[in-house]
Amino acid sequence: MGSGIAQVFAQAGYSVTLVDVAQEFIDRGLATIRQSTDRLVSKGRMSPEEQAALFARIHPSLSLEEAASADFILEAIIEDLAAKKKVFTTLDQVAPTETIFASNTSSISITQLAGATRRPERFIGMHFMNPVPVMKLVEVIRGLATSDETHSTVVALAEKLGKTPVTINDSPGFALNRLLIPMINEAIFLLQEGVAGTEEIDTVMTLGANHPMGPLALADLIGLDTCLAIMEVLHRELGDDKYRPCPLLRKMVAAGLLGRKTGRGFYQYE
Ligand code: 3HC
Repeated sequence: MGSGIAQVFAQAGYSVTLVDVAQEFIDRGLATIRQSTDRLVSKGRMSPEEQAALFARIHPSLSLEEAASADFILEAIIEDLAAKKKVFTTLDQVAPTETIFASNTSSISITQLAGATRRPERFIGMHFMNPVPVMKLVEVIRGLATSDETHSTVVALAEKLGKTPVTINDSPGFALNRLLIPMINEAIFLLQEGVAGTEEIDTVMTLGANHPMGPLALADLIGLDTCLAIMEVLHRELGDDKYRPCPLLRKMVAAGLLGRKTGRGFYQYE
């Protein structure tokens, strides 16, 4: 999602330092932004000059230290508490104390992540949806110590990006993923139990509930590893067995069938 987030900030006129751990991930991110903005150019919604200016505002880097001069830092790494804490601990040492930190986590506690820094009042959740350039919603998640000022700054920022912010209190999975991911998990149970096939399950929800895509196609879009990580947080933190991850989901993740990003999930991709 990081590339989509970098795109919407650059599209709104912000200068963006795009940091990743390896050049191949930066190249992949920039290629995704190229593909996404090429669509806009081909539809006449962005001029080639605007596209070039957008790319000129994105500065790729392999060093977290280079992000330290930004006014606002948003983390969108893997859904892993220890890895996220490590990033924020480093950033906390190199960025000025007034800089606001945000996490695009799908489910991890904002209060807990904020606790890894010395600025919990300037720490907040800013949760974008996939595909980021298209989806209007941004969940703005207040941690226990998030200040009113940080909250209003980030709400205004989301609006400047052309998004609709909705404020949610810190709770596992927040609101969107607490609703959406258990539905996807249940769809995988239906498949595992042989109640219906992949396409039948998706058709039931597209034609029967007017969802733009079925739950299994959506799982492939989100990434099965991310779906599993979110179910595990819901299960562990809420302590209710209704959130147990489906064994077939675990098996597919173990097999490396993660959806679109690996070319195969519930469906096969080019
Ligand atoms: N980048 C940029 N633009 C894209 C895009 C992308 N990756 N994918 C689609 N688009 C644009 C298309 O250009 C098109 O634009 P237009 O209408 O202006 O011409 C528009 O989006 C619709 O695309 P398509 O016609 O190709 O296809 P669909 O009509 O089937 O829409 C979809 C694709 C937008 C992905 C739609 O199927 C959808 O809304 N699916 C549900 C997505 C969803 O639920 N997302 C939330 C996931 S949960 C999440 O992200 C949280 C996380 O924490 C797990």
